Amino acid sequence: NRAEVVINGSSSPAVVDRSNESIKHIKPASFRWRHNQTLSLKIRKQILKFLDAEKDISVLKGTLKPGDVIHYVFDRDSTMNVSQNLYELLPRTSPLKGKHFRTCAIVGNSGILLNSGCGREIDAHSFVIRCNLAPVQDYAWDVGMKTDLVTMNPSVIQRAFEDLVNETWREKLLQHLHSLNGSILWIPAFMAKGGKERVEWVNELILKHRVNVRTAYPSLRLLHAVRGYWLTNKVHIKRPTTGLLMYTLATRFCNRIYLYGFWPFPRDQNQNPVKYHYYDSLKYGYTSQASPHTMPLEFKALKTLHQEGALKLTVGECD
Ligand code: CTP
Repeated sequence: NRAEVVINGSSSPAVVDRSNESIKHIKPASFRWRHNQTLSLKIRKQILKFLDAEKDISVLKGTLKPGDVIHYVFDRDSTMNVSQNLYELLPRTSPLKGKHFRTCAIVGNSGILLNSGCGREIDAHSFVIRCNLAPVQDYAWDVGMKTDLVTMNPSVIQRAFEDLVNETWREKLLQHLHSLNGSILWIPAFMAKGGKERVEWVNELILKHRVNVRTAYPSLRLLHAVRGYWLTNKVHIKRPTTGLLMYTLATRFCNRIYLYGFWPFPRDQNQNPVKYHYYDSLKYGYTSQASPHTMPLEFKALKTLHQEGALKLTVGECD
């Protein structure tokens, strides 16, 4: 009783359905998804006109020095200074330099993952990307454990680690960072004002405790480039979500891309409630940095790509 996104309606992302119901229309089992290699390569080429994941995944050491002033991407009037710690943690070369993977999983954080049993399938991919330090240990059967790259919006430190108010929370974050064990920690430090202290706390912990992670801080041009690519494909997103950013970057180094945990709707196809996140009690429409997101619109675009075989979206149980 595997459920996959159905092939129906227009294949053009330009046509936007107003109702979420038609966006999330899915059907069970029999439909066989087939990878469209030609289309995947075409998309990679098109995206390369806007950005290059190898370069834009992180600012490199050679390009900044401590004390440099940076204007936030979304808050141009506000600035930050490059701290010594941030400088220390900038990679010398791209963490994705020359990388190529047969299959990649991008794991979104929707509650649709609960009871999916997708953990084993996710872990079998060559490269696994996760978002916003999502916990895995207690959810391994549904989400897997393997993590090659994980993102961390500064707001997560507030949301999931109580802004490190005491030693207990600091320890919790530290344990989580240690568990990453050599993977890439991707921190959008230059996007929006307000996250500077949180980024600094994390940087400090990493250096002080010699945490084994490879830090990356996306380039200043990445967000606009990603937005530009989708705009030219008539997907009008104000601010791409982490999940869409990851898909856009992954096209550069992954042959086949599999998406899990992408379901921005409070109910599943059978009208059963679906949690916003698989691991916490956050509600749909919560106001934070997520508010400028237009997840259902992104979902529609991803669904179209699924139908065309450019990526595979799993929104039900795995075998
Ligand atoms: N996602 C989804 N449906 C949900 C929740 C998340 O499709 N119900 C996808 C989105 O692509 C999202 C990603 O999973 O970007 C990771 O989820 P989350 O941590 O909530 O990311 P953002 O909302 O982008 O992060 P933030 O709230 O920090 O801006």
